Amino acid sequence: MCGIVGYTGRSAAAPKLLEGLKRLEYRGYDSAGIAVRGEDGFTVYKRMGRVRELAGASTLSGVTGIGHTRWATHGTPSEVNAHPHVYGKFAVVHNGIIENYPELKRECAMRGEVFTSETDSETVAHLLEYYYRGDALAALKQTCARLRGSYALAVMCLDDPDELFGARQKSPLIVGRGEDGLYLASDAPAIAECAELYLLADGEFVRLSGKEVHFYDADGEIFKEPTKFVPEKASPQKGDCPHFMLKEMYEIPTAVAESVVDFESDFRFNEFNRVLCQTEYIQIVACGTAYHSGIAAKYAIEKLARLPVEVTVASEYRYREPIIGQNTLVLAVSQSGETADTIAAAELAKSSGATVVAITNLPNSSLTQTAHFVLYTHAGREVAVAATKSFNAQLALLYSVAIALAKARGQKADISSLLPFPALCRTALTCAEKVKELAPIFAHAKSAYFIGRDVDYCAALEGSLKLKEISYLPSEGYPAGELKHGTLALVEKDTPVVAILTRKALAEKTMNAVSEVYARGGKVLLVTHLGEYAERKEVAAWVPIPACEELFSPILSVIPLQMLAYYTSLARGNDPDKPRNLAKSVTVE
Ligand code: F6R
Repeated sequence: MCGIVGYTGRSAAAPKLLEGLKRLEYRGYDSAGIAVRGEDGFTVYKRMGRVRELAGASTLSGVTGIGHTRWATHGTPSEVNAHPHVYGKFAVVHNGIIENYPELKRECAMRGEVFTSETDSETVAHLLEYYYRGDALAALKQTCARLRGSYALAVMCLDDPDELFGARQKSPLIVGRGEDGLYLASDAPAIAECAELYLLADGEFVRLSGKEVHFYDADGEIFKEPTKFVPEKASPQKGDCPHFMLKEMYEIPTAVAESVVDFESDFRFNEFNRVLCQTEYIQIVACGTAYHSGIAAKYAIEKLARLPVEVTVASEYRYREPIIGQNTLVLAVSQSGETADTIAAAELAKSSGATVVAITNLPNSSLTQTAHFVLYTHAGREVAVAATKSFNAQLALLYSVAIALAKARGQKADISSLLPFPALCRTALTCAEKVKELAPIFAHAKSAYFIGRDVDYCAALEGSLKLKEISYLPSEGYPAGELKHGTLALVEKDTPVVAILTRKALAEKTMNAVSEVYARGGKVLLVTHLGEYAERKEVAAWVPIPACEELFSPILSVIPLQMLAYYTSLARGNDPDKPRNLAKSVTVE
């Protein structure tokens, strides 16, 4: 999604901005631009496509500048809609959405102001100019008071050649102090070389001036401690793998091993364990892949701890007036910790009296600021837009929570049942060659279906999402027993259907659905450790996975499905790391 970098210091700004933008590329974007303050004012350089298209801007002279990667929300992806936007004495880059921009734009137009872009963001530059009376910070405060929605802003004013201004509301903004200057960024990786980082909170402003950083809230100047969080110094590399997605799948065993937690025997979780003992009801809020890990967690928590669990897509939860009882625990799951809907859902749950637990992969992300407790998945940075290892890591952590909840209720469960999974994942990854051979079946299909029962249904949902997002093949994940209630109408000769089968007790039931598919000419690919079912005539191909504790099997069974999405994407000529229209961290509603 959109990314921001700003710099003011002793060095040339343009190379700093371009380097920072390059490090934000993994977030997904469609255009990029920078503005540098030179002798004669602002020079703006914008291009469609990749940051490398801005190479011509690297020689711009000036030591203060702002840069942006844009993921279009309001206004088509185009050079004119790319940021920075300049109006009067101001240049602005913006992450987020200004929800009341139509009325603000009308107001500006009535004053005779002309807009050059279709964006909501350009209104910010216009308002700054309108409110400016010689004090850029005051103008920024007045402007922000008019904005509804979410924003991280980096602003330059022509009258303050060596200064940058920033503001944050529901979209992250970080200030960095480096050896040769001061930085603003939406993500820590963009300014990883900075020795000191400061996180802005909602409603706060910052002014970077020479060597000085001043923070403000609505009432005046405030003091801020640097954060203790140390960002990684080097960006992740693909190594020998052609794509980050493949590399990240091979990191699944480590991600799982690092994310299993024995809460009960770790004194750092004493307070958390106390909350688990009191919990009567659990709600899980998340989006996309993280939502699927929530569904898998529901099966495990309900079965092991006998506690009711409700899983809701965060964008629905936030507008639903959810019922929160006295001992409701809300698990907000988000790889990035920056997903706007998940943060809003967590905030709503907190303000309604729930205890909120953030489950995230990113230290210091916005979600961590909202929650009462933070549990980290230790998947390492995930660069590919399609989530893989972070999903397996979420499962490992959520299953650990399920086990802790069960133990807190005196039920039989033990963390030792999760310990074999890293090695089992390693074995499951050997499916790569077999899956690669099967990918052409999917690459030439019109659509594909994934079916399973119980925990296998969770894997089916995630397998389907993976396939559609990077191969652009229409696909659905379905409970195997539900297929005949509608979706079976879509199965015709050679329609590929992936059946996941890890629950032995339900195997015959799932095989009924397989027979129904076969009878309509569909081609069934079976993912199972139960070889006896793979031999049946209804099964066109078999991808074996190792046997494991059934309740936790999605950690394993999803691996061939992730691989299938990857190889189908390649077979269709796509870039699996950068699917069209999608972004790594969805910071807007
Ligand atoms: C799918 C995918 C998305 C994310 C979703 C939530 O591969 O990556 O569906 O899972 O956007 O993102 P986080 O987990 O960062 O909140």
